[in-house]
Amino acid sequence: MDCTIICKSIHKGNTRKVAEEVGDVLNCQAVDPEELSPEDLSSKDLIGVASGVYGGNVHKSILELLERTSFSGKPCFLVTTSGFPSVFFNDYEKKIRAELSKNGLEVFDSFTCRGHDEYGPLKYIGGMYKTRPNKKDLKKARQFAEKVEDRFRSI
Ligand SMILES: Cc1cc2nc3c(=O)[nH]c(=O)nc-3n(C[C@H](O)[C@H](O)[C@H](O)COP(=O)(O)O)c2cc1C
Repeated sequence: MDCTIICKSIHKGNTRKVAEEVGDVLNCQAVDPEELSPEDLSSKDLIGVASGVYGGNVHKSILELLERTSFSGKPCFLVTTSGFPSVFFNDYEKKIRAELSKNGLEVFDSFTCRGHDEYGPLKYIGGMYKTRPNKKDLKKARQFAEKVEDRFRSI
């Protein structure tokens, strides 16, 4: 299985920690979008998108890269870390899935967990979820990757 995880983690490195666990199980790298070309992605069987949630979306550099690609139904999984769960914040996961689908990616599974968040005024109180992602989150991320592998093989 040839897979790449497009990973953007600008705030605390939270998403990178999670994406690297997933990549370790799937035997693939978590790579910044700036280091990838559309050609690098088109040869892959499976694409992972891993990002912190910024203003209710994945990082714009991921979307910019995907806009230059021409996938049609490429299997994809999504990994996010955020300060708030999607249900409390505009259902951002639904929006992100729609963005990825617009770019020809078929998201068949997703993983999310909280990440240390010191964005904006939160920094004055030391932020939220200081110790996340924690060991338990990373273990769950590995279990998610095992599930992705099984599901991908049955597609
Ligand atoms: C510029 C910015 C915007 C953010 N916007 C959101 C948001 O819309 N919803 C949310 O739940 N968390 C938001 N957060 C918190 C991050 O999603 C959270 O800290 C995440 O774990 C950061 O991942 P990273 O360390 O991989 O960048 C935001 C953080 C930053 C820095």
